Amino acid sequence: MSTASKGLEGIVAADTQMSFIDGEKGVLEYVGIPIDELARHSTFEETVFLLWNRRLPSRTELESFQREMRSEYDLPAPIEKIIETFPAGAQPMHALRTAVSAMGMFDPDPNSVDPAQYRRKALSILAKAPAIIAAFDARRNGRLVTRADPSLSFAANFLWMLNGKRPTPAMERAFDVCMILHADHGLNASTFTARVIASTLSDVYSAMAGAIGALRGPLHGGANEGVMTMLNEIGSVEKVDAWVEDALRNKKKIMGFGHRVYRAYDPRATYLKTLAEQLSKDTGNERLFEMSRRIETAMLNAVAAKGIYPNVDFYSATTYHSLGLKLDLFTPMFALSRISGWAGHCLEQLAANRLIRPDADYVGPHDVAYTPLAAR
Ligand code: ACO
Repeated sequence: MSTASKGLEGIVAADTQMSFIDGEKGVLEYVGIPIDELARHSTFEETVFLLWNRRLPSRTELESFQREMRSEYDLPAPIEKIIETFPAGAQPMHALRTAVSAMGMFDPDPNSVDPAQYRRKALSILAKAPAIIAAFDARRNGRLVTRADPSLSFAANFLWMLNGKRPTPAMERAFDVCMILHADHGLNASTFTARVIASTLSDVYSAMAGAIGALRGPLHGGANEGVMTMLNEIGSVEKVDAWVEDALRNKKKIMGFGHRVYRAYDPRATYLKTLAEQLSKDTGNERLFEMSRRIETAMLNAVAAKGIYPNVDFYSATTYHSLGLKLDLFTPMFALSRISGWAGHCLEQLAANRLIRPDADYVGPHDVAYTPLAAR
């Protein structure tokens, strides 16, 4: 009889000072500050400082942190060359994972786990991730790569590199808020992956590449693309109720709903819903928002009793679509932000490291005689 805790739910496997989640009440805080406060008043750069230092920066500290991050925006030439060899039909999450992994080969000292060096390398990966996505997107569309602009914030620089034009202040703010909301979230699957890799004292490039791989799965960050695909498939508000009913009858998981920890409304989804409503109105995508709202109502009527509510991925689909992002860039957007959380967790892991190595219950046979190949 297996004693394994399948899915490890309820198992506490690490201490963290970064994010606090109360899944019953629908609360999320970064270093004690409610996510709503940060979404209203902070910036992504300030939020990364907060997560990595467990306090808000002074103005001088923030400026210095921004300078440091922005000086790292550009990709080294060999990484640009590697990206040019990627097939145009590759998926951006594969491109991001591969380029981050390749960065390790061009770092003269890739394996250092000295905290200051690890943090510097992590900041470089975070700062360069937008350039990786933008360079790959330019390449697959046969466009020239737009150079990074160190005078711009993380959010504005990404949109500038991706679209080759300056974002409006409203677009920059909306994207920046998305980055804040996705930065960290306890010991989720990709963060756990990163911490396991860090716990072996492996390098930061391996930890980030492994985490990107975990995030892209449809049960995790890949769900935001799944939501958009579902919206496209349903097609109109009138078809929502029958579609949801049919999907639930066939035991399908509806993308963007449910969460391992939340049994209440995901507070990130609350904020994203407001953002999606505003942006969809501004960009003529009201139909998507209305469909989403209708799906939410149908789901709440059907499964709220089980504690299934919209998660962070549900309204981010309409938000990203309204921001003009292509469908397969939705999950990379999540990764851009979450690199900050993964890196913060790896630094926490290294500060009090113990190899993460759980057990497995062996449930196979014993004392089996070896049959020679010729006799099989
Ligand atoms: N649609 C329909 N029913 C659902 C959904 C859903 N999205 N999620 C859970 N349920 C149902 C399950 O079928 C199960 O019902 P049952 O008790 O009758 O069998 C019950 O709710 C409990 O669900 P579990 O699957 O046990 O919950 P678990 O904690 O394992 O799953 C998960 C969490 C994987 C996120 C799940 O809700 C899911 O697959 N959601 C869709 C994918 C998604 O949106 N992922 C993003 C999560 S957020 C993030 O990672 C950033």
